[in-house]
Amino acid sequence: MKRYRFGIFLLILALVGISCTGYFKNSAIVPGEIWNDTDGNLINAHGGGMLFHDGKYYWYGEIKEGKTWLVPDQNWECYRVNAGGVSCYSSKNLQDWKYEGAALSPNLTDSANDLHISKVLERPKVIYNEKTKKFVMWLHVDTEDYLYSHAGVATSDKPEGPFAYLGSTLPNKYTSRDMTLFKDEDGKAYHIFASEMNAVMHISLLTDDYLQSSGVERRVFIDKNREAPAMFKNNGKYYLITSGCTGWDPNEASLASADSILGNWKEMYNPCMGEKGDKTFMAQSTYVLPIEGKTDYYIFMADRWNRTNLEDSRYVWLPLVFRNDSVLVEWKDSWKLLSQ
Ligand code: DGJ
Repeated sequence: MKRYRFGIFLLILALVGISCTGYFKNSAIVPGEIWNDTDGNLINAHGGGMLFHDGKYYWYGEIKEGKTWLVPDQNWECYRVNAGGVSCYSSKNLQDWKYEGAALSPNLTDSANDLHISKVLERPKVIYNEKTKKFVMWLHVDTEDYLYSHAGVATSDKPEGPFAYLGSTLPNKYTSRDMTLFKDEDGKAYHIFASEMNAVMHISLLTDDYLQSSGVERRVFIDKNREAPAMFKNNGKYYLITSGCTGWDPNEASLASADSILGNWKEMYNPCMGEKGDKTFMAQSTYVLPIEGKTDYYIFMADRWNRTNLEDSRYVWLPLVFRNDSVLVEWKDSWKLLSQ
């Protein structure tokens, strides 16, 4: 009995130690498995995006928490959870993530507010504006039937927030759903969004402060029904990975490229190779992260949605490499950044 009590005492001591010291470390990136932050809690950052600032990576994503339910009277399987706002995590090694808190908090009281928990808040992305010294977040803001289709903007003086919400718009008077941001080497930034009931992707130049659409834009993949855009640049060329539109279900990714961001985009092929590559490894693109200090090496970030329990959706992160002039994403059960 004494031994048993001592065992429990040791266990409690260990748990207290873990929570006080931020003990949790991940030994590798394990796509599709449970991923804990340095406090030992599940990382909650879906449809995410990444910012590298002052030697640290910041991961922003949708907070999906609580019960998942089916929105009634929709002609598709419209599962949802309360909109939980946007989380922020920081890391130096891309493996161990410290929770920095809610970068953008949801509104709990005013059902007319864009950020109210009854709304849809998806695919937040953050870029830094060197001129204004502001961190600028754009995100997809919607009603539960996805018909409002607006783009929201928020700013902060610090990467981890809190971000102040400035409101939402129809960029260049077009509806906006799945989206990403891309900041080019010349400091110009672009908002890339699925529009026109998802039929057309738009690439829209932002104003110099990154807070509005400039009016200069290009419609691409016309009538192709693409979403989940993730843009990156390599050797002067622009690349865009998108998914098809099948709700929460996975489908085949497609890679497109262009010599100029507002120029002609050519759809090429599915970069995901091997088993389940035709279903993006049962996930959907959200971001492609260039690794600082490396050339031709990126992380492909995707979400493996669990549509009936959205909180338990997982992250599928895989190396994206250039091989013989082709872009490839190959499945790995587990991998380490440094061994690539
Ligand atoms: C696919 C989108 O890419 C997600 O962000 C989300 O909007 C789901 N559809 C909803 O079904």
